[in-house]
Amino acid sequence: MSRPNLHRNPWLHVGAALLLALAAMLLIRLHYANGATPADQSVQAGRKLAESWCSPCHAIDASGARAQTRTAPDFAAVANMPSTTELSLKVFLQSSHPTMPNVILTPEQRGDLVNYILSLRQI
Ligand code: HEC
Repeated sequence: MSRPNLHRNPWLHVGAALLLALAAMLLIRLHYANGATPADQSVQAGRKLAESWCSPCHAIDASGARAQTRTAPDFAAVANMPSTTELSLKVFLQSSHPTMPNVILTPEQRGDLVNYILSLRQI
């Protein structure tokens, strides 16, 4: 059985770092379950942005609320795709997309939206 060679594949490092970061965020979330952390505030800000800019096309939460058009994927579904990472979302939101209006996002708004979408992850 061949084991992945950590020294040859830099992406494994990135993956491990992301996992650690996620684990740390989870611990912080649990720790501050009743208080607002900066991460929570970012998620809340992202949710507000999503409500005003993204909800016409996307179902933006896991509550099952249906968006008007069903061509855009639910954010919860996006969050649960194995290929979705903070980086992939940030890259996506930086590129102009033919089916999405060119909403101009500041880096902070982009970060908030990404944090919000990732907060919907159920796995
Ligand atoms: C005018 C409708 C529309 C609006 C508004 C819109 N989107 Fe989209 N979005 C789409 C469609 C349609 C797709 C999927 C089809 C595609 O990828 O071409 C999509 C795809 C995406 C994806 C990619 C999912 C994947 O497969 O990786 C993300 C992430 C996303 N949108 C985020 C957002 C965010 C964040 C906003 C608000 C700032 C937003 N969208 C606003 C129509 C929209």
